[in-house]
Amino acid sequence: MDKPAFTPRVFSGIKPSGGLTLGNYLGAIKRFVGMQGGEFETIYCVVDMHAITVWQSPEDLRHATREVAAGYLAAGIDPDKSILFNQSRVSAHAELGWLFNCVARVGWMNRMTQFKDKAGKNAENVSLGLYAYPSLMAADILLYHATHVPVGEDQKQHVELTRDIANKFNHDYKVDFFPETVPVIEGPAMRVMNLRDGTKKMSKSGESDMERINMTDDADTISKKFKKSRTDPDVLPETMDGLSERPEARNLVNIYAALADTTGEAVLSEFGGEGWGKFKPALADLAVDKLAPISTEMKRLMADPAEIDRIMAKGAEKANEIAQPILAKTFDIMGFVR
Ligand code: AMP
Ligand code: TRP
Repeated sequence: MDKPAFTPRVFSGIKPSGGLTLGNYLGAIKRFVGMQGGEFETIYCVVDMHAITVWQSPEDLRHATREVAAGYLAAGIDPDKSILFNQSRVSAHAELGWLFNCVARVGWMNRMTQFKDKAGKNAENVSLGLYAYPSLMAADILLYHATHVPVGEDQKQHVELTRDIANKFNHDYKVDFFPETVPVIEGPAMRVMNLRDGTKKMSKSGESDMERINMTDDADTISKKFKKSRTDPDVLPETMDGLSERPEARNLVNIYAALADTTGEAVLSEFGGEGWGKFKPALADLAVDKLAPISTEMKRLMADPAEIDRIMAKGAEKANEIAQPILAKTFDIMGFVR
């Protein structure tokens, strides 16, 4: 049987489990905007059902769901060009997630490094959902037959698992139904690091607010955080090779490159030989220039949550139109009487 030709379609999601960071912006949202309006149909989701794999108070979940949606919109996701919605409004995610729980193997889940990191010594006491979540992520993607998934480096293993689930399903039921989704992980900001410790990922949680840039930070805060970020005593080298043992310096150069839509090499051809006294203020100014308008727009949007909810509800209707036939066909292939 010939492989079915799949519509070029992008799906990606962000968990509303706290505020958005510069890591989410550069590793995900900015790239989502870049893929919009071209060869792909683009579907972007606030994956609220993933957020509850760790405790969220109802008020926090509601607030963070709207804030992630506001972040998407403020950064340039256009609801006329992309489908933008929150996951829980399309119940097919949960349904396909269950079906995939019965396709994925426990051994596959046991290899997920993010689970091991997050559960740590507490593995007996985390939610079952945290363990099963990569299978729900596979459902998010395959429910739309998405061919491409832009994500940060930390999600690579989960997209590979999605391919394994698709392949096992196709093999077990002797069909060519689910595509082999490709992870899109590229550019200088695949992994934005903590501003205080360049060996750790910048994340929503974390002890000190100084270690991350929040997308809601105002201009002064952004500037102050970059100026106080940890560095080393050396000047900047001429090439990226010279940064291999300098994680904090490499991180700042990569952030600069991602914000300026260029490469680390190009940044160093301008700043090579310069010290931090020159580079940090330039980085702070660039970051304020690019990020402050987004945080201002997020504030404006958050003042009218009903409008955000309307946009997500409309997006969910469009998402559902794609998802329902694919879910129905999946049930059919598996032999459910309906
Ligand atoms: P999350 O906030 O965990 O739902 O992540 C949403 C998206 O942002 C995923 O594609 C992540 O890979 C990406 N992301 C989160 N933190 C970072 C980071 N520090 N650097 C690059 N990408 C990130
Ligand atoms: N697991 C992703 C994260 O933690 C979020 C996510 C859920 C996602 N479903 C997805 C990303 C589908 C891409 C595609 O960052």
